[in-house]
Amino acid sequence: MRSDAVLFLIIQNGSASIELPPGMPAFGGLLTEDQIASLIRYIRDFCRSKSRIDASRDTAGDQEW
Ligand code: HEM
Repeated sequence: MRSDAVLFLIIQNGSASIELPPGMPAFGGLLTEDQIASLIRYIRDFCRSKSRIDASRDTAGDQEW
């Protein structure tokens, strides 16, 4: 998993800035540093979210995520 700092760089400067394929455009000119930090918290929230189906599977104890 990429660190928050790396996600920050990808959003601010684009994927090419850390030598990934250049598909992700830079948003540094559009978003403040606080807005980028908020986006990273928002993206991370998806990892903590569970769909109803996943939540029911949790009772079986076989889901790592
Ligand atoms: C504010 C809006 C956006 C945010 C917060 C965002 C965020 C991100 C992040 C965090 C990654 C890295 C994912 C990873 O590999 O761990 C990523 C990758 C990528 N994004 Fe965005 N993105 C946004 C908008 C866009 C837009 C508008 C495009 C296309 C026009 C785009 C295209 C891509 C592509 C193609 C990648 C893969 C880059 C690569 O690995 O080469 N993104 N994005």
